[in-house]
Amino acid sequence: MEDISLHILDIAENSIKAKAKNIKIKFHENTKKDKTILEIADDGEGMNKKTLNKALNPFFTTKNTRTVGLGLSLLSESAKAANGTFSIKSKPGKGTHLKAVFQTSHIDRKPMGDIASTLISIISGHPEVNLVYAHQLNGKKYRLNTKKIKSQLNGIRINSPEVLQIIKSNIKKGLDYIGRQK
Ligand SMILES: Nc1ncnc2c1ncn2[C@@H]1O[C@H](COP(=O)(O)OP(=O)(O)OP(=O)(O)O)[C@@H](O)[C@H]1O
Ligand SMILES: [Mg+2]
Repeated sequence: MEDISLHILDIAENSIKAKAKNIKIKFHENTKKDKTILEIADDGEGMNKKTLNKALNPFFTTKNTRTVGLGLSLLSESAKAANGTFSIKSKPGKGTHLKAVFQTSHIDRKPMGDIASTLISIISGHPEVNLVYAHQLNGKKYRLNTKKIKSQLNGIRINSPEVLQIIKSNIKKGLDYIGRQK
């Protein structure tokens, strides 16, 4: 995985597979603490203890198309390679919450990547899912909430090309505004 935005795409795919209706992604960067924290929470079907214990093993997957599942273990490895940590909590019927911490300045910290494209790809593929993206950089905040956007669209589809274009430029402007350089 080349950058964090691709990890996010991958993890969000797990949530969607688990029939989540709501996905919340938090991306918090703190320069003083030299930390980048990625948290992703969903209200999907969750995992029992046995599945959860196995989930971090790259040779475990509940997909029947192949025998290895890589998404979680790759994110865990990326965090640890950047002197960070990875943890995951899950409850059947409730959902899943994961947290990856990276040392921002670490030479092996992957770049953020194209967050706008990642979010747009989730929204366009799964317009029924409510997505919150909350980015903080040293206390400055940008927040996207697709449920709110949908309520203001008066029946226009959130995944229509025009709306997606507006959302994409909003994300870029928002990240720019909080001082997030690419
Ligand atoms: N958010 C989630 N909710 C419920 N189960 C999950 C969630 N995320 C992961 N899992 C379970 O953990 C397993 C491993 O996930 P992981 O992303 O590592 O691999 P995968 O999704 O099976 O394959 P890949 O990500 O490589 O396409 C999944 O098959 C699924 O059973
Ligand atoms: Mg996966």
